[in-house]
Amino acid sequence: MDFLKQMILDKGYIINNNILKVDSFLNHQVDFKLMNEIGLEFYNYFKDKNITKIFTIEASGIAPAIMTSYKFEVPMVILKKQTSSILNDDLYQTEVKSFTKNTTYNLTLSKKYISPNDNILIIDDFLANGEAAKGAIKLIEDAGASVAGIGIVIEKSFQPGRKILEDLGYDIYSLARIKSLENNKIEFVD
Ligand code: G4P
Repeated sequence: MDFLKQMILDKGYIINNNILKVDSFLNHQVDFKLMNEIGLEFYNYFKDKNITKIFTIEASGIAPAIMTSYKFEVPMVILKKQTSSILNDDLYQTEVKSFTKNTTYNLTLSKKYISPNDNILIIDDFLANGEAAKGAIKLIEDAGASVAGIGIVIEKSFQPGRKILEDLGYDIYSLARIKSLENNKIEFVD
């Protein structure tokens, strides 16, 4: 997606060999035109998959996910990050470890917002190690629903997330795939 790649080159900046900051258009301030294009791009890729809901993980996945849900005209559901596990029959919950942030949280979903008939598209801002996506998949499959695919805005292809999810058989569509952030240079996968 050329518009996104150009914005990454123009406005993104490298913190170190592993971290790209995109606070001015995706993670803090949000560019509405870019979000609209992202929603359309995910819609065009996944439109024949009978998607019933869009799931995302708070917080930075919400902006691309809401625009995607608008294009599909289906609800968006935000998976919440709880600091402690909650024993509650009304919830699905699973523990997720973030290697990037060195934190652990309990990804949480109310049983009210999923049914076994759902065919769900997961949308998130970054794919690094795949832990957040694996957590979302677990909650969806615990509910007996299906994962139709995974849409990622920025994939760091030098980290293992894509391979792990592909090996599990999921369809992943990443709008920008970053090969390397080394030598203070952003390189995309061809
Ligand atoms: P994983 O889910 O693929 O395993 O990734 P990991 O746990 O390693 O990273 C999770 C968090 O770190 C996510 O934010 C993700 O957006 C963020 N992250 C990972 N790599 C980068 C990067 O290069 N740049 C930026 N800006 N963020 C990155 P989160 O904890 O879900 O927080 P939130 O921002 O969505 O609230």
